[in-house]
Amino acid sequence: MENISKHFGGTRALNEVSVRVEPGEIHALIGENGAGKSTLIKILSGAYTKDQGTIRIDGAPVSISSPLDAKNLGVAVIYQEFMLAPDLSVAENIFIDRLSEKGKLINWKKLNSDARERLEGLGFGNISPQKKVGSLSVAHQQIVEICKCLTRNAKILILDEPTAVLTVAEIEKLFRLIGFLKEQGVSILFVSHHMNEIFELCDSYTVLKDGCFVSTGKVKDVHNDDLIHMMIGRELKNMYPERNARKGDVVLRVENLNAGDRVRNISFEVCAGEVLGFSGLVGSGRTETLRAVFGVDKRDSGKIVFLGEEVDFKEPRDAVKKGLGYLSENRKTLGLLVNQSIRINTTMSSLGKVTRRGFLKHKKEKEYVKELLSKLSTKYGSMEDDVSSLSGGNQQKISFAKWVSADCRCIVFDEPTRGVDVGAKVEIYEIINSLAEQGVAVIIISSEMTEIIGMCDRALIMAQGRITGEVGKEFLNEDTIIKLAMEG
Ligand SMILES: Nc1ncnc2c1ncn2[C@@H]1O[C@H](COP(=O)(O)OP(=O)(O)OP(=O)(O)O)[C@@H](O)[C@H]1O
Ligand SMILES: [Mg+2]
Repeated sequence: MENISKHFGGTRALNEVSVRVEPGEIHALIGENGAGKSTLIKILSGAYTKDQGTIRIDGAPVSISSPLDAKNLGVAVIYQEFMLAPDLSVAENIFIDRLSEKGKLINWKKLNSDARERLEGLGFGNISPQKKVGSLSVAHQQIVEICKCLTRNAKILILDEPTAVLTVAEIEKLFRLIGFLKEQGVSILFVSHHMNEIFELCDSYTVLKDGCFVSTGKVKDVHNDDLIHMMIGRELKNMYPERNARKGDVVLRVENLNAGDRVRNISFEVCAGEVLGFSGLVGSGRTETLRAVFGVDKRDSGKIVFLGEEVDFKEPRDAVKKGLGYLSENRKTLGLLVNQSIRINTTMSSLGKVTRRGFLKHKKEKEYVKELLSKLSTKYGSMEDDVSSLSGGNQQKISFAKWVSADCRCIVFDEPTRGVDVGAKVEIYEIINSLAEQGVAVIIISSEMTEIIGMCDRALIMAQGRITGEVGKEFLNEDTIIKLAMEG
């Protein structure tokens, strides 16, 4: 791709950016949230049209003005935000563009068995082809998406933050798969905010910043700190900043909670000023446990005590009213109103701060949103723009900001830094620390072990719906977590 430019209204998303990927090469496309990575990828995949620039495949200029053009040229893409149809089955999604031969009825038996074979080939025989995609975990939806792309013999495969929702074991499988495609000469463009993945997997890199090209080269010739410096324009001293919080009284206590087969006899408590981690594999019941506490899912039995009072939340709104906040892992379905403005999304859980006797104080609200978002280095045009116009990482920052501003006594952050660039991660950690210092009880659910180890005073590790261990800060390390996460 040569000298590609693209603007959205007043925003220059890309300014004469070039990137070159060889056959059989894994090329990392990196940069801060809002740098222009997804936009560049969407131009290659035909989702957006460029304002100017040239795309060449095998040396020849090509014209890509629709997703179909891209597909016919052998470009397959796995987007950051999924493109799956939630009400269709796994098998239907995988073969969505060729459900039947022309004029023939769909052969369901064959469709399902073909899908099963593909999934097994990828090491995911545990995903049922007949299940509705919408009922799968985010991680498994991702696998279905990858599977769908691979049925199309791609020459160029684009992966936009593919590992953001996968667990360690699943990431290993994905990397093996990518390695296999590379051997077959497929060119792979890989977007990730995880520096370790870039060093483990990629051959070369291109760095973007604020829509501009910064540099390109071989991964083996560059250090981690150099890449971070190119991305964010400064050094990062400490990934996990110090916290000076005092542990206070118990804020939330859960006793013998049961809900379906993913939440079995769960008991725990978290105190004011404490940061409690939930670790374990995707599907181990971490998210489901908290969903049951908040009344998103039905409880079978158990007792929940919040601020000394037994509570029975029927829906998250009840919990929020009492001061218990919940940043969900899936910002699209539970967290954000994507067709509402950035301003509304940021303040919708904290209207008390910006209203007086029920009237919205617009000036105050605007100032408040501006300050909070700049603290998180959120990149946006106007706060009246829809949240959907933001880059993935910046959307995550909005859903985080929403809860930070909500005056909660206890907040659950489910995957708080998913898709967020390294610089902004540290800012999120700093805000979590300051919440704890103000006496908020914080719960972090995270698939990133380093995040649990770096941030938590104490962690509960779950496997198959049960808590398999509780580990204090001084004993928290990857080996212990993995061992406990595999138990059960
Ligand atoms: N559909 C759109 N409408 C308006 N602005 C957009 C749209 N898509 C992207 N932008 C803007 O273009 C810029 C680049 O966004 P892009 O999604 O390419 O970033 P990114 O590098 O992928 O970031 P992230 O790491 O957060 O995913 C951002 O400022 C974003 O707000
Ligand atoms: Mg992106």
